Amino acid sequence: MEFKEVMKQRRAVNFFDPAKDVTDAQIKDIIETASLAPSGFNLQPWQVIVVKDKAKKETLRKVAWDQAKITEAPIVLIVLGDREGWKKGHNTFERDFAEMVKTGAMKKEQYDWFAGATKSIYGTTADQKMAFACKNAGFFGLSLMLAAKNVGLDSHPMDGLDVEGVKKAFNIPDQYWIPLLLAIGHFDKSKTLFPPKWRKSYNEIVVSF
Ligand SMILES: Cc1cc2nc3c(=O)[nH]c(=O)nc-3n(C[C@H](O)[C@H](O)[C@H](O)COP(=O)(O)O)c2cc1C
Repeated sequence: MEFKEVMKQRRAVNFFDPAKDVTDAQIKDIIETASLAPSGFNLQPWQVIVVKDKAKKETLRKVAWDQAKITEAPIVLIVLGDREGWKKGHNTFERDFAEMVKTGAMKKEQYDWFAGATKSIYGTTADQKMAFACKNAGFFGLSLMLAAKNVGLDSHPMDGLDVEGVKKAFNIPDQYWIPLLLAIGHFDKSKTLFPPKWRKSYNEIVVSF
């Protein structure tokens, strides 16, 4: 699909057709496409939990404002942002540095500099850690929605959830924040989709201070 069409056709779809499934191969494809999203220093501080089991979706719905789309959609992704993903010793940090050394983007001796740089911009305060996790996982989250639309699937992002409740119900370690849940499936064509929502204009978006 042409990029602008993907952008236009992606909508937060409230009603999913419970009769239409999403295959594991489709979910894998969507996640792999979204993994091309950019991230600070390529640290990719995101993970997803794929929820498709009926009982687990019911559990999730109870801690996410009782939103019906959670049980109606065939798949719900719990998108996680890793507040510790910038840190020396973290698997992804170490792999990232090793890959940069391999490609010549960094020298082995720059390890301490790299660890200090990521700590200073992502890991000095709780706000920085949260921003690091959520902005990067947010780019990944949008990429998931666009990747789904590109293969003809619909989605619905949700942050109406009790973060601590979801963490507890799914044994999610404390280092993660949950920027969004993402229901994925097929729009139920017997229902009416809201007309396209308003957007700020170019002039409202561009500012100078
Ligand atoms: C991070 C995020 C969280 C959202 N949370 C919810 C939610 O919990 N429940 C809901 O019904 N819609 C939720 N939405 C959907 C938005 O209301 C919707 O995307 C917006 O109104 C624009 O509509 P559109 O996506 O159809 O263009 C969320 C969207 C985003 C991006």
